Amino acid sequence: MEKKCVIQQGTIIIIIIIELFSFLGFCHGWGVDGHLIICQIAQAHLNNAAADAVRDLLPAYAENDLSSLCSWADHVKFRYPWSSALHYINTPDDLCTYSYDRDCKDDSGEAGRCVSGAIKNYTSQLLTYGKSATQNQYNLTEALLFLSHFIGDVHQPLHVGFTSDEGGNTIDVHWYSRKTVLHHVWDDNIIETAEEQFYDSNVAEFVDAINQNITGKWSNQVKEWEDCSDNKTTCPDKCASESITAACDWAYKDVTEGSVLKDEYFLSRLPAVNLRLGQAAVRLAATLNRVFRQS
Ligand SMILES: *[C@@H]1O[C@H](CO)[C@@H](O)[C@H](O)[C@H]1NC(C)=O
Ligand SMILES: *[C@@H]1O[C@H](CO)[C@@H](O)[C@H](O)[C@H]1NC(C)=O
Ligand SMILES: *[C@@H]1O[C@H](CO)[C@@H](O)[C@H](O)[C@H]1NC(C)=O
Ligand SMILES: *[C@@H]1O[C@H](CO)[C@@H](O)[C@H](O)[C@H]1NC(C)=O
Ligand SMILES: [Zn+2]
Repeated sequence: MEKKCVIQQGTIIIIIIIELFSFLGFCHGWGVDGHLIICQIAQAHLNNAAADAVRDLLPAYAENDLSSLCSWADHVKFRYPWSSALHYINTPDDLCTYSYDRDCKDDSGEAGRCVSGAIKNYTSQLLTYGKSATQNQYNLTEALLFLSHFIGDVHQPLHVGFTSDEGGNTIDVHWYSRKTVLHHVWDDNIIETAEEQFYDSNVAEFVDAINQNITGKWSNQVKEWEDCSDNKTTCPDKCASESITAACDWAYKDVTEGSVLKDEYFLSRLPAVNLRLGQAAVRLAATLNRVFRQS
């Protein structure tokens, strides 16, 4: 009996260590702050039907704060190993284009297993909300958390990156004096440095600044961001195409193995990051508003 107990404790410790590494190390997607910013802005832009559905689907401990669980999908990669391919898209090296039929697949070649396919998947699951109250084959809480996270990820330019460098994950760079990889610069470093330099290290001030531009300088573009062709509920392929374009125009541009990235790179790329965060927030809200209006 005692021995079994020891083994169980050991297993639990190993699981905790693995989850800790998954949290620190292999994050595909915006970092915690990027996702938090997107979900916080989006939740404030929901219509009544969507706000009610989100409140209903969130676990009680989230206290109706979607942003508190916006990185949940990163934390379950070890519990749900099948989900890790759903955070990104690999496109052919140096082409700077994206095609769903050509590129949306996982490493084993299974079609539809990429971030764009996942957004379509979880959007259609959420469309069943309220329809068969007795028995739903899907866990719509998980569908909401996956969708909210993946609409963020598909806007991170290097989530739709080149295959051989894994979206910048194998490109070693320095962010000022710190050693990191290019992918991480776009997940976290640009956002963190912006918070430190411009927003008093306060994520709420960053959220306010993006909100001001959604109602200010971007206001005449917001409708175009929200709209999908053919009245579709969601249109992640458009976002994925924009991402690979931004990856080539901004993220990969003038970066090689060992590059030292500092003020010049930071200040010229920050507007692209701000724009992608704003677009992701607007589109997450628009998608949820369409999903729950139809339910
Ligand atoms: C769709 O969602 C189900 C339930 O979470 C999951 O098992 C499946 O892998 C998902 N497929 C894609 C492409 O997202
Ligand atoms: C749905 O998923 C959440 C998060 O994984 C879990 O806590 C909850 O128990 C699940 N609900 C059902 C009915 O299985
Ligand atoms: C908002 O727009 C102003 C004016 O163009 C710009 O200076 C500022 O950096 C933008 N901030 C964000 C967070 O987009
Ligand atoms: C989109 O929806 C509107 C309103 O329901 C309808 O009038 C229009 O014909 C639809 N357009 C397409 C391309 O389906
Ligand atoms: Zn992710």
